[in-house]
Parts: sequence; structure tokens; C-alpha cells
Amino acid sequence: MSKQLHAHWSSRLTFVLAATGSAVGLGNIWKFPYMVGESGGAAFVLVYLVCIALIGLPILVAEWLLGRRGQKNPINTMSELARHNGLSRGWTLVGISGVLGAFLILSFYSVIGGWSLSYTLGAVTGEFSGLDADGVGGLFNGMLASPGVLLGWHSLFMILTIGIVARGVTSGLEGAVRTLMPALAVLLVILIGYGMTTGHFGEAMNYLFNPEWSKLTGTTVLAALGHAFFTLSLGMGIMMAYGSYLGEEVNLLKTARTVVIMDTVIALGAGLAIFPIVFANGLDLASGPGLIFVTLPLAFGNMDGGVILGLMFFLLLTFAALTSAISLLEPVVEFVEERTPLARVGATLVAGAGAWALGIAALLSFNVWSEPLVFGLDVFNLLDTLTSKFMLPLTGLGAILFTAWRLDRRSVQSELGLSGGSATLWQLVTRFVAPLGVIVVFVGSL
Ligand code: PHE
Repeated sequence: MSKQLHAHWSSRLTFVLAATGSAVGLGNIWKFPYMVGESGGAAFVLVYLVCIALIGLPILVAEWLLGRRGQKNPINTMSELARHNGLSRGWTLVGISGVLGAFLILSFYSVIGGWSLSYTLGAVTGEFSGLDADGVGGLFNGMLASPGVLLGWHSLFMILTIGIVARGVTSGLEGAVRTLMPALAVLLVILIGYGMTTGHFGEAMNYLFNPEWSKLTGTTVLAALGHAFFTLSLGMGIMMAYGSYLGEEVNLLKTARTVVIMDTVIALGAGLAIFPIVFANGLDLASGPGLIFVTLPLAFGNMDGGVILGLMFFLLLTFAALTSAISLLEPVVEFVEERTPLARVGATLVAGAGAWALGIAALLSFNVWSEPLVFGLDVFNLLDTLTSKFMLPLTGLGAILFTAWRLDRRSVQSELGLSGGSATLWQLVTRFVAPLGVIVVFVGSL
């Protein structure tokens, strides 16, 4: 069946960079910092870290372990592992839902990646210069109102993604993350350094880290749980696909610890880059697209050095989005490559073109096709809801249940190098705590 030897990461470092690149995305930049600030600062960070340790990290390890054992795309990995262990073929659904989820998310993720590209250019050409709040709002809404503009940027972003993935795991994915991740780190450090000069760094530190236990409620804990899951790109077949290129020598637990630490540090760093600028310019806090595409451009357009800082910020955002987008395309391409006669380039073109076409329906939701399709949701929100609320938690749940309850316990423990107390802890966490956590997120989000 296989046309060539299955690819492998050329080192543990590039694997770490690729996995971190996937994990660090829009969520780290437009969601996490704001969530921390609004939900209790250090108190929230603490809860979040517990969620990461008890839910995110075990599922991350489980997905890598499954992928590494299968050495195939997530769908074949699940069907073969099920067959191998004499289990129901129904487990294949976990792989199917993962690959499908990645495909669906990529379609609209690319639309937002396109916004980021557009604002990178906007920063260079000084498009925000001197604009007031209405001006930057008008700029953003103007972009959303134009199908042609959105299509152009979405297409460009998808072409970049396809261009990287088509070159394969070693030259494409590794080549990209080897350049983009260090660049991302450098940009982040410079932006934080700038934040320190604004005179409002302390305010940002206080906003992010001052613990306010009273702000911890059921809702904020639920948000921490959900984000711990989303930020590690779990339940999308991504980490399974990345695991399928892993060799036996890599220590999964240690590697997962590195990845979650980097993901969290970068997310907090993003807050230390963003909030000093927001506070120094006396702007109102917002979250999500509003913070990134309206509030920050307003600041960049009205401060000294705004052109260069704006350029650096939107490059950072674009790099974060691009390394996540390639990770979304990878499981789909791996599947097409292994299941059809197509080679890498053909498989990437087919998978990428499919997601691109679906992305057109998503981008029309902002303008000519904004009427709800079903359940009062337009295509963009339908894709978002279907994937993040349903497919991801259920896929992640399937992966952890399969690993904890269906695979031979001893072989998993020896693969992870666990014994004695640590083995018992792993057993407890993966069999009960993590699945329960996902179920809570799933039910809570409905
Ligand atoms: N982990 C990404 C983030 O935190 C989210 C993501 C990555 C979503 C890849 C989809 C695909 O932003």
C-alpha cells in the first residue's frame, strides 16, 4: 500500500518546533491573554495550568502515542490499531472525525490567516496612520464586506500553506518551522521589550498576573478547560499525524512537557506584548478579532514607530497562523497520500483546494451570504461551532479513552517509561480525570 518509506522528523527539536507551531496560533494571541486578564489573572493561570497538566498534556501524549504506533494517517492508524488489538472497527471514527475536523477548520482558519496577511501589508503601507476609532473599524468592516478582497487574501494564505505542505515533512514542514518559530520568538521578544519602554508594562503585568480569586467562577474554569484543549490542537488528528512521523527514541512525556511550557510562555508573552500598547494608548480592552484588527491598528496608527511595530506584530500573527494552518493540512494530506495513487504534491493540491473551496463559502458569510444556513448559524459560524464544540472534544475523548481503556496497559506504561507511582498516576488521570474533564467541557459548551 505505501508508496514510499514513511517520513520521519529529522530530529526531536524539529518535532518540538512543529508541534509548538501548531499549538501556538490565533488562540494564544487573541484569546488567552484577554481571558487571563478578565478571569482572575494569576488565579486563572493556575487553574489553566492544572487543566493543561490533567487534561491537555495526557491527551497530547495519547494522540502522539497512537500516531507513533500506527505510523499512518489518523484514519488508518485508528483502524489498524483497533484491528491489531481485536477491537471494534468503530474506533476508526476517531480518526475520521479528526481528519474531517482538521479539513473543516482549515477552510475558515485560512480566511482569518488572510486577514492577518492583509494587515501585515496594511501596516507596511501605513494604512492605519492617523485613523480614529471609526476609521480602523471602517477599515476592518470594509474588508469583511468585500468578497473579492477576502477571497484574494484567503487564496494567498492557502497557497502559502499548500506550498509548504507540498514539499513534505522534512523539507516543507520542518523547513518552515525552523525559520518561522525562531522568527516568531524574536518578534515577540522585541515587542515585549517595546512594551517595557511604554511606561505601562507594570499595568499589563498587573492585569495579567495579579491574582483575583473572586473572579474564578464555574464559567471561567470551564473556559480554562476548553482552552487547554484547543490551544494544544487536540482532537483534530493533527497530533496523531505528527506522532506518525515519530521514531521510538523520542520520550513523549518529556516532549509534551516542553511543548506545553512553550505554548503557555508564548501565550503569556503575547499578553505582555499587546497590553502595554493598549494601555499606553488609553484604549478599551477587547478580545478576539476586535482586539487584533481594530484596537491594535488604532494604537499602531497613532504612535511613534507604529509602522514598524505594527509590521512586526502582524508578521508574528501571520507566522503563528501559518504554522497552525500547515498542521491542519497535514493529516488530510497524509490521508489522501496514503489512500489514493496521488503522490505528495498531488495530494496536497487536492486537499488544499478542497479546503480553499469550502473557505469561499465561509468568507461569503461576512457579506453576500450572511443569512443563517441552519440553526441560526451562517456557514462560518456553523463550521466553527460544529468543529470546536462537537468534533474536537469527541475526537479527543475517543483518543484518550482508546489509549487508557483499550490498549494494553503495560505496553503503554513501558512505552512512556512509567512505573510504580507514576504509572498509577497516569492510569488515574487518563482513565478518569482527563475523560471527565473533556465531558465537562463538552456538556458545558452546549
Ligand atoms: N492551537 C491553536 C491556537 O491556540 C489553535 C488551532 C491550531 C486551531 C490548529 C486549529 C488548528 O490558536
